Amino acid sequence: MKEIKNPKTLQREMERLRRSGRTLGFVPTMGALHEGHLSLVRRARRENDVVVVSLFVNPLQFGPKEDFSRYPRSLGEDRRALRQEKVDYLFRPLAPSFYLSGHQTFVEARELSRGLCGRFRPGHFRGVATVVTKLFNLVMPHRAYFGAKDYQQARIVQALVRDLNFNLEIKVLPTLRDRDGLALSSRNRYLSSRERKRALAIPRALAWARDEVRKGQRSLPSLKQGILRRLRASKVRIDYVEFVEPDDLTPVRGLKAPFLIAVAGWVGKTRLIDNAIMWP
Ligand code: PAJ
Repeated sequence: MKEIKNPKTLQREMERLRRSGRTLGFVPTMGALHEGHLSLVRRARRENDVVVVSLFVNPLQFGPKEDFSRYPRSLGEDRRALRQEKVDYLFRPLAPSFYLSGHQTFVEARELSRGLCGRFRPGHFRGVATVVTKLFNLVMPHRAYFGAKDYQQARIVQALVRDLNFNLEIKVLPTLRDRDGLALSSRNRYLSSRERKRALAIPRALAWARDEVRKGQRSLPSLKQGILRRLRASKVRIDYVEFVEPDDLTPVRGLKAPFLIAVAGWVGKTRLIDNAIMWP
């Protein structure tokens, strides 16, 4: 695995590979890697000649009161895991060479950034869309891999690829979960074992909703109340529980067509998100 820090060096190397006819698969990450990340890497490995992973805790997508400085970092382990997955390139830029001083150009997906996490994390998706655009321009991959766990992010990336004519394919892969159902997340490392038990209320509430829908429940208020009740019982401090169209993330009225239930909440000082698509 070749490690590159300098953006220009990476871009040159990628250009050379692309010209030689190799296909490039790209997995952007912020590190503190877990099996969810690695599932994306494995898929990229299967589908491309060359696999590039980026590891960059992007300051632009953290709010001033968010966890940028304490975001988990585990470079040694991450490197080992990526080597084991036979990753070819690890791109690990330093912030000052990535955002040059005087940086003033930003990318924003308007409508898709408004709801859900956008309401609670102003500027977050602008930071994500901007970093992803820059990374795509540096790597110029044929395919890039994202997780459905960050559903809104994945939709925003799909929109920016279409809107800005990036010549690449976005693959969105399913959320990987621990055996008990908790969605894998780098932020799970913040949880104490008691908090982790409380956090299980989130996947359990979603699983309960799925069961209700399967049994024929079509009342949005009943489902929502049921979810809220379950989260509150475990003292999850709720940011939102929303029922939205899977495509444009606008609120649904009825529960006839497939819809997404998206949840965000706090367990102690840790913010967790999860979602599930329901097929009535
Ligand atoms: P990060 O949180 O490190 O996630 C990197 C990728 O892994 C994202 O596409 C995310 O959706 C995916 N992922 C996280 N948990 C997952 C799980 N349990 N199952 C499947 N995939 C999972 O998302 C980011 O970094 C950043 O916003 C980034 C896109 C790198 C831009 O900075």
